[in-house]
Amino acid sequence: MAIKIAVMSMKGGQGKTALSVNLADRISKANRNVLLIDSDMQANVTTIFQRDHVCNLANLILGEIKEFEFLQINKRFSILPSGGKQMVEAARYISNSRFRETVIKNLLAPLNHSVIIFDCAPSWNEVNENILMYVDYVIIPVVTDYLGYSGCDQVMTYIEDLKNDARGLCHADILGIAITRFNSRTNISKTILHGLHKRWPDLVFKSLIEESVSIQEAPAYHNSIFNYKNGKTRGARMYEKLCKEIAMRIAEKQKAFSPNQ
Ligand SMILES: Nc1ncnc2c1ncn2[C@@H]1O[C@H](COP(=O)(O)OP(=O)(O)O)[C@@H](O)[C@H]1O
Ligand SMILES: [Mg+2]
Repeated sequence: MAIKIAVMSMKGGQGKTALSVNLADRISKANRNVLLIDSDMQANVTTIFQRDHVCNLANLILGEIKEFEFLQINKRFSILPSGGKQMVEAARYISNSRFRETVIKNLLAPLNHSVIIFDCAPSWNEVNENILMYVDYVIIPVVTDYLGYSGCDQVMTYIEDLKNDARGLCHADILGIAITRFNSRTNISKTILHGLHKRWPDLVFKSLIEESVSIQEAPAYHNSIFNYKNGKTRGARMYEKLCKEIAMRIAEKQKAFSPNQ
């Protein structure tokens, strides 16, 4: 069964897209079939890889397209674009559906990828709720500034509320908090990091992604950080460590829930 992960925060600019793209590409390099689903109407994943495509999440939700067709980035890395502005219509369609909590879960049931990652929109809407009904894990990317901290608090509360309210349909487990833009030269960055550790000691990933020019440049060259400059950048080294830590945490969780243990 696929491991399903949402990269989610209710605030923009937290590194959701950077983390989703780099994590998906890194997992594909470990010989696992990965599908990255863009569920944000800003469609940044599509912008990064610059390909036109007809099949997307919005027109699949709306029933305008029946067959899945993915953008193939490499042998093991595929993408399902969001459909841009059509995501607004898709969200409306979900809220008017009879089984509104599980539209995305039912739609994606036939997929057989090893790992499915969602690059989520920074919004409190039906699409994100549906994604939370479908995924096993959520990773929350955080920029270490005051508003980043507050955004992290908001998404935690949102997920907890949903888990309490959604008639037991939401089983999403918060895998961890990923620091995506740490600036070791500023006191605010250090203070916020300390605050995150104090508040969620078991959740913050140890591997920090610091401010880095290569991470900012890679999308402009239509690449993940692992393909940009042949992966020989400080950004690639930092993401390598974070992706490994994420994989290890998933492996620990999967082991803990394995029926053979
Ligand atoms: N570690 C980093 N160093 C420098 N720039 C970064 C870093 N991580 C992300 N960025 C840049 O910050 C901006 C916001 O990141 P993005 O991944 O698009 O956030 P989100 O998807 O949460 O809105 C983008 O321009 C991205 O290239
Ligand atoms: Mg984004």
